[in-house]
Formats: sequence, C-alpha cells, structure tokens
Amino acid sequence: MKPLADMALDVLQTADGRAKTALSHKYAAEWRAAREGGDLPEIGTANPPMHPARPDKPELLSPRDVPHRKPGSELGRIALLHAVAHIELNAVDLHWDIIARFSHISLPAGFYDDWVSAADDESKHFNLLCDCLEELGSHYGALPAHAGMWRAAEDTAEDFMGRLAVVPMVLEARGLDVTPGMIKVFKNAKLDSAVSALETIYAEEVSHVAYGSKWFNFMCGRENSDPKEVFHALVRRYFHGKLKPPFNEEKRADAGLPPDFYWPLTEDL
Ligand SMILES: [Fe+2]
Ligand SMILES: [Fe+2]
Repeated sequence: MKPLADMALDVLQTADGRAKTALSHKYAAEWRAAREGGDLPEIGTANPPMHPARPDKPELLSPRDVPHRKPGSELGRIALLHAVAHIELNAVDLHWDIIARFSHISLPAGFYDDWVSAADDESKHFNLLCDCLEELGSHYGALPAHAGMWRAAEDTAEDFMGRLAVVPMVLEARGLDVTPGMIKVFKNAKLDSAVSALETIYAEEVSHVAYGSKWFNFMCGRENSDPKEVFHALVRRYFHGKLKPPFNEEKRADAGLPPDFYWPLTEDL
C-alpha cells in the first residue's frame, strides 16, 4: 500500500470528476482495510499542487458572473444540483489536500481515519448529484460554476488551524444551515432521487463538521490555548465576510460547535 500522502496526491492530480471520486473510494477502502487489520499505514509526505486537477468543464466564473436562476423552475433545480455537485467535488479535493499539505504535522492515526472517511463521503455525494443531474438530462460540466471555491484552500495553505477553522467549521457548517431548505425545494418538485441524495448529504455532513471541531479542539489542547478565542481570530483572518444567520443550532451542536463560537462572528469587530 502506498503512503497516504501519495494516495492523496494521486486523487488531487486526477482531473475527471467520476475518475477522481472512483480513485478516492478505492484509496479510502484500502486505508480502512489496513486499519481494520490493525495496521498503521505510512502517512509519508507530499507536496500537493496549489490547485488540484479539474475537468475542462464546468467553465469557472467569478461568483457575480454565474447566472442566478429561480429554484422554482426545472432549470433552476438543475442549476442548484449543479452548484452542489461543484461544492462536493471541491470538498473531495479539500479533504485529500488537508491530508497531503499538512502531512508534516504529527497527528494521531484517528485524524486520518476521519479525513479519509470524509473524502470518501464527498466522493459519494458528488456521484449521487451527478446521477440526479443525468436523470434530469443534464450533467456536471453543463453549466458554469463558481471559481472562488478553492479560495479557502489557498488562503489557509500554510495554516493548518486556519484550514480547520474555515473549511469544516465555517463552510461545511454552513451546509448544515442551508441543506434543509434545499431538500424542501426538491420535495415540492417531487424529485425523489434529489431528495434522497440531499438527505444522505445532510446526515453525513454533521460528522465532517464534528471532525473539524474535534481536531481543532485537540490542537488547541496540545498548545494549551483557548479554542473559542483561537477560532474567532482565525476566522476573522482567513474568512472573507461575516457569518450569516439563521444557523442550524441543533445540528451544529451535534457537531460540537457551540453558539458562542459562531454568533460573535456575525458582527463587525
Ligand atoms: Fe458533502
Ligand atoms: Fe463535507
């Protein structure tokens, strides 16, 4: 078995979405089998590219140039599924990127278990959404997508704690806030496959946020610092803009994110 950092690099360097997620599933299964067999596979080190390989399509546009469509129409629902598929593909790369980019930091094996498992989930999420798009006669790549999605990765490329704060604890937590509304859109349209895909995503994303808060707290404990204060400082430094309520307080609590972590970030300093 290859060192985990090399596996991560392979996924990051695969451009096609279905091929990237197939490789991600394969490596996650290898990792899990080794761990269940009682092995601690080698982590290794890697030098990941600043930008992961991506397919030629979708065309990536600045957020203000991506056309907004009303979710009440068929085209609007396709656009919404396409946008979420794009987020999921970015999430696959983000999770393998954190493994590769910060492989020089010494962490318990459980950290890698969590991130490999999250990458495996995101790969499934991307494929579920691609299936829904294809069922509606579209596909991933048929519409333009946001170019800014990788910004958080670039901004925190040299700050492991910043990455944990911004990606799982802000961006993925935001997913918990907005997914119930999306599920409603597809329920109203009686699109069962999209409803079930989004319900799977909603259930599994709680654990991704939980991995973030768990390892963020672990690192703060290692450095004997106050997690809440460190979180506020890092989000203000690396996240552009304020956090937007309403928050899904219940699911955020399930994921170990207490209100005093996020409410103060809704205000200007
Ligand atoms: Fe996901
Ligand atoms: Fe996620």
